[in-house]
Amino acid sequence: MTMATTTYDGVLAEIKAAVGAEHEREAALRRSVEILKARVPHYTWIGIYLLDDHELVLGPFLGKPSPHTRIPLHRGLCGAAASERRTIVVDNVDADPRYLACSLETRSEIVAPIMRGDEVLGEIDIDSDRPAAFGPSDRALVEATATLLAAKF
Ligand code: SME
Repeated sequence: MTMATTTYDGVLAEIKAAVGAEHEREAALRRSVEILKARVPHYTWIGIYLLDDHELVLGPFLGKPSPHTRIPLHRGLCGAAASERRTIVVDNVDADPRYLACSLETRSEIVAPIMRGDEVLGEIDIDSDRPAAFGPSDRALVEATATLLAAKF
């Protein structure tokens, strides 16, 4: 099965149930990160940043500790996704001058904003050690997770 035809219906159902069951935002964010990490092997690092005054502040994450715990909106792929209010997928992070390195092994990255209307609340950031790891079904999964989490803000 190729990446593009992989679907994550079961993963999304699990996230939906977990997010629905958690009353606290922090717990819902953490459970989502845990499920994504446990269920999708090529997601090497998963974290959620929360927008706090013009900075993205790292919340729950799994993977190696990142040096980027606070990212201004004008920096990195994270800042680009938040300021452009759209999902950013980078197949080869080494070829993108916006990229802020978190781990030397990272090859590709997806960042999807968590939004309420036009307002950015935070974002889901996922790195992979595989080049071009994020296809259309990954984008759909991450964006659907972001929509579920937006209800917790
Ligand atoms: N790569 C991100 C920084 C965060 S780390 O990947 C955890 C960026 O370019 O904004």
